[in-house]
Amino acid sequence: MPVEPTRYDTVLRGGILIDGTGAARRAADIGISGDRVVRVAPPGSEAMQGTEEIDATGRIVAPGFIDVHTHDDNAVLRTPDMAPKVSQGVTTVVVGNCGISLAPIAPVDPPPPMNLLGDRTAFRFTRMADYAAAVDAAAPSVNVAALVGHSTLRVGTMADITGKASPAEIDAMRARLEDCLAAGAIGFSTGLWYKTNVGADIDEVVALAELLSDAGGVYTTHMRDEHDGVLDSLRETFETGNRAQVPVVISHHKCAGPNNWGRSTETLAMIDAARAHQHVALDAYPYVAGSTVLEPYLVDPEIRISVSWSVPHPEMASRDLADIAGEWGCSQQEAAERLRPAGGIYFQMDEADMRRILSYAPTMIGSDGLPHDTHPHPRLWGTFPRVLGHFSRDEGLFDLEQAVHKMTGLSAANFNLTDRGVLREGAFADLVVFDAETVADTATFDDPIQPAAGIDCVMVNGTVAWADGAARTGRSGRFIRRA
Ligand code: ZN
Ligand code: CU
Repeated sequence: MPVEPTRYDTVLRGGILIDGTGAARRAADIGISGDRVVRVAPPGSEAMQGTEEIDATGRIVAPGFIDVHTHDDNAVLRTPDMAPKVSQGVTTVVVGNCGISLAPIAPVDPPPPMNLLGDRTAFRFTRMADYAAAVDAAAPSVNVAALVGHSTLRVGTMADITGKASPAEIDAMRARLEDCLAAGAIGFSTGLWYKTNVGADIDEVVALAELLSDAGGVYTTHMRDEHDGVLDSLRETFETGNRAQVPVVISHHKCAGPNNWGRSTETLAMIDAARAHQHVALDAYPYVAGSTVLEPYLVDPEIRISVSWSVPHPEMASRDLADIAGEWGCSQQEAAERLRPAGGIYFQMDEADMRRILSYAPTMIGSDGLPHDTHPHPRLWGTFPRVLGHFSRDEGLFDLEQAVHKMTGLSAANFNLTDRGVLREGAFADLVVFDAETVADTATFDDPIQPAAGIDCVMVNGTVAWADGAARTGRSGRFIRRA
């Protein structure tokens, strides 16, 4: 008697499943109905029929990538097709990193680095609930999980942000953070290196971060110093986690500046030691240059700096600061002053450190891409395929299963994203189909706006978001509320 096939909305047939746990790949057919994966079966073992059928023969099928470090807060509203991310296989972004988030703050002229998220018109969400509603209304192609930024709280609350918050200001920030957590924010971030945040001492940070403890949130930090003081900053980060009793995530871990090249052996040993008794996670991007605002006090003439955007001098985007200074007959600091508000790309890391940090098993992948830049750092379009293609396949830093784990299962576990990051029955149908032989970043420092090669198809909550090299219109990303 012929068996009636089981029907699904979509069947992905003939693919090689890398499920995000780090487990070895295996062949599988996958049935999807609604927004969930409902069946994972050995290939051809069952009669499965999809209203839509996707031939994944010879391709890797993996959970959609989670970009744990983004500044996409405004991009998901302004450019909801999110081509820079979905073209790489990213299906979820964590926004609000480095102490800067769109919510909660009344309209404001954003001081650097808050202006990385957009101009005054971007800041209009006095409550996280309003931002969440705006994300759901925009229905971006990717899911959005939000952190609350300390600089945003400070700028929105304090009379003078250069110093430490007063007890009354701390109370006001605590109330706002609690309101954001009640609306589903997944945690709290600092950017203690920035002028808007550096005035906060550890007591102020702990007074806020401790609210995450009962709520089950995470604390992420762009540390006070990633240069000469990187070891002290790690100690501060661990102490903050201990005192607040919260899991910490060290953002875009690096040893910046030529003085500190090679010190990742020390930093990773310290992180390893701390992990023996507290929850410490970290993320990194696969490049030796960083990018942020361009400010005179950030200029180090020892390293190459290129301009990624400038309001008064948009024509200087992509040019090196040293060349501009030469042309203008001034110092690089003075050139930076004349270019600002502006963004810069800082070639401040050592390749061996970057590889060591990427290869460290607990390291997650986060792009730190800046979506509004005129001439962005290539990490915006290239981070995930660069890890899969260049660093896993070509350079052999880790196998493909580990590479996928670093951008899926590990990330979902660290950020408490329920039913995402692992491709299994019952999980949300966020997935990517890619060619392990050809997946590659094509974005470069010279030509940074380039979609990845080898990404065939990307699904978000059961809907195809990217296929055949183009974004689809049926977007189905959501605001993800803390579990
Ligand atoms: Zn940062
Ligand atoms: Cu960042």
